[in-house]
Amino acid sequence: MEDESKLRQRCTWEKFENEKFGDDKVWSETSDEQMRVERSIAALYTAFKNKLDISPDIPELERNSHRVFLWKGLKNLSSSYECLDASRPWLCYWILHSLEILNEPVPEDIALQVVDFLKRCQSPTGGYAGGPGQNAHLAPTYAAVNALCILAPITDEAYKAINRETLYKFLMRMRMPDGSFKMHDGGEVDIRGAYCAASAARLTNTATKELFKDTSLWIASCQTYEGGFAGYPGQEAHGGYSFCGLATLVLLNGIQYCNLKQVLRWTANRQMRYEGGFQGRTNKLVDGCYSFWQGGNFPLLHMVLCSQDDQALSAHRWMFHQEALQEYILICCQHSGGGLIDKPGKSRDFYHTCYCLSGLSIAQHFTGGHLADTYIVGHTKNEVKSVHPVYNIGIDAVIHANEHFNLLPVPGSSGKHEEK
Ligand code: FPP
Ligand code: ZN
Repeated sequence: MEDESKLRQRCTWEKFENEKFGDDKVWSETSDEQMRVERSIAALYTAFKNKLDISPDIPELERNSHRVFLWKGLKNLSSSYECLDASRPWLCYWILHSLEILNEPVPEDIALQVVDFLKRCQSPTGGYAGGPGQNAHLAPTYAAVNALCILAPITDEAYKAINRETLYKFLMRMRMPDGSFKMHDGGEVDIRGAYCAASAARLTNTATKELFKDTSLWIASCQTYEGGFAGYPGQEAHGGYSFCGLATLVLLNGIQYCNLKQVLRWTANRQMRYEGGFQGRTNKLVDGCYSFWQGGNFPLLHMVLCSQDDQALSAHRWMFHQEALQEYILICCQHSGGGLIDKPGKSRDFYHTCYCLSGLSIAQHFTGGHLADTYIVGHTKNEVKSVHPVYNIGIDAVIHANEHFNLLPVPGSSGKHEEK
């Protein structure tokens, strides 16, 4: 395992240099940008390679500085976060999930404060808004439910902060006749809506047949000629939307409606040959957040392939280069002051910190089929917690939520397990 994990770093460095982008002598602004990014990354990889002989345990996950950055954000945000005033449950989720991945415990009094705040974001007519007094929206609803499920093992108050009856009414109100979901009253319809609704409903056991009738078919209509999913039928495939599409199909048992091989081919080809990280769409630049939005698709694809093909059961890796992604995250995406970033030169934020760490977790832990295997680049101390690829919270938090909510009746129905 040690030999394999260092393969790209030690043995194939020269070959790896050959993976750099070539513009075939046809200049374009896009190819220029790509080469600029590769140059900035090459400088970091070269410095890393030169240090490797004297410090064999690098790259190191700078846990301490990330922890300091995250704690500061949970307690007090600077005015630069004013633009996220309508995304406050997201900030709670990004920070709590990052701490969870780093195995950093949250004290009960802090957990209670966050629960209290999220309660104030809950709308009297169901769902959660981006902040107290604002209108409910599917995106902060997803984030709030995830954040509360992360906190539930710390405080019993967390689950009590979810009004499942009104949540169900809100989800039904967002549903469109064709099975798609609008993001809020009078708002836009896109694939994020279906994912946010399906994720929140499944976690809280509020999914019914009525709520998700035809949703899988609508999602399948977002798959494009490239193989990935777009935000809306006819638009461009993108990693963020592909994750939403695939995860929703997994949640609703509707994977048979899409062309799985094409999603796999498109997603695998989004890993950048030189950088090691993922791009969000064809001919665009690498970005740390796609470590999860694209990387998270591999466990989903694997899960489905295992149910269809015995060969997948004996695999012991995801179908992307797990070490290359870890190198990109650890060498190119760690901000010197804590927190993680999109690419070298960009500033840190909680969104990129959350999704770089989530992608790191996916790249470290293989948990498909009959086997579980761990691939850690750098010191074994770099190992982070396993995340659940469908919801993107800890696997233990998902199990805890299922144990709690699956005992309760599904709102709007007579049974406990309305839509499985
Ligand atoms: C393009 O940004 C970004 C998009 C088209 C949408 C991305 C969608 C997600 C990240 C998923 C969100 C999911 C939920 C659950 C709310 P860009 O043009 O700045 O970036 P690019 O050049 O990398 O494509
Ligand atoms: Zn990004």
